[in-house]
Amino acid sequence: MTHRIGIIGGDGIGPDVIAEGLKVIGAAGVELETVGYDLGGARYGRDGTVLPDETIEEWRSLDALYLGAVGTPEVPPGVIERGLLLKMRFALDLYVNLRPFAHPTDGIDFRVVRENTEGLYHSLLRRSANRLMNGRVSEDPEMDFDGISGEVAWDPRPISRAGSERLVRLGFDYAQRRNGAPKDGISRVTCVDKSNVTRGCQLFRKVFNEISEEFPDIANEAAFIDAFTMWMIRNPEWFDVIVTTNMFGDIATDLGSVLQGGMGMAASGNIGDEHGLFEPVHGSSPKHAGKGIVNPIATLNSVQLMLEWLGMKRDDDDALAASDIIERAITDQLLSGDDLTYDLGGTASTSDVGDSIVGRVRALLAEHYS
Ligand code: IPM
Ligand code: MG
Repeated sequence: MTHRIGIIGGDGIGPDVIAEGLKVIGAAGVELETVGYDLGGARYGRDGTVLPDETIEEWRSLDALYLGAVGTPEVPPGVIERGLLLKMRFALDLYVNLRPFAHPTDGIDFRVVRENTEGLYHSLLRRSANRLMNGRVSEDPEMDFDGISGEVAWDPRPISRAGSERLVRLGFDYAQRRNGAPKDGISRVTCVDKSNVTRGCQLFRKVFNEISEEFPDIANEAAFIDAFTMWMIRNPEWFDVIVTTNMFGDIATDLGSVLQGGMGMAASGNIGDEHGLFEPVHGSSPKHAGKGIVNPIATLNSVQLMLEWLGMKRDDDDALAASDIIERAITDQLLSGDDLTYDLGGTASTSDVGDSIVGRVRALLAEHYS
């Protein structure tokens, strides 16, 4: 089966890591038809284009999107984040930000299921909320900030029942398909929120409690975000699937990346019912661009997620097998300790790592189909 994939190499190290990803997909025998999109900070600098509506329309007919990294130091902060990354998430209703964490020897294997279209990020694109956010609300006589005066800026944080339900249900679905937490093999979903303080989180927690009753075979528990960050670092092997709201998930997953060796390892899938966009969590890191030294494993982990998602969505067993094989090849590579980049204590180049994983993928593939 051929998959039609939109490729956004983007800026900085984006194109460098995408090249390794495509190499590994090719080695894994998955056929792609790729369509390239020149978007990101460099494009914006050239002609002011961020993300045309026609491009989004075109994307609706693709099977998935694969993004390297976007952003250049010359572009004012927010232009690309809001105009490209967040716009994609909203426009294609990619309501889950799936972030896996694994370590081959430390018994870490959990997935964070971060809400991706509501919460503190919601107001950035929705017009009515924008009016409030951008307005000088302190001059609005209707607004009562109870004692706060002078210039005020604020971000509404809407959390809906429907948005929480679909996210939490997906978290339980993932838990059903996994092998449980490394510590005790128990399938477990942990709700991470701040429901001792915020109303949005109270609704999120209420919905979590309701949905958990639909899944009596899966253990459920809840934690407040502040205490959770400590437990995640101290006892990562306890966790299996974590569901959380948008900004908490953003922060907790950067912290979580240190458990698996840093941002050079961290993958993500922005997933909705119809569309999926896969990207390493790291940014464009302009100072490393073109030097061939960055770790491509974050993007390869994202490729693994993309093939898993395509395989499930399109009933393609070969894509599912390729996804498993890539995962094993990466684990074997890490266990071998050979051909690792500087961030993992090695001296290998970006393409050395890619080539080495390609070799492992070919060998595993031959074994699989023999
Ligand atoms: C991420 C990033 C984005 C986010 C930014 C760049 C908009 O930090 O993907 O985690 O906050 O979601
Ligand atoms: Mg982030």
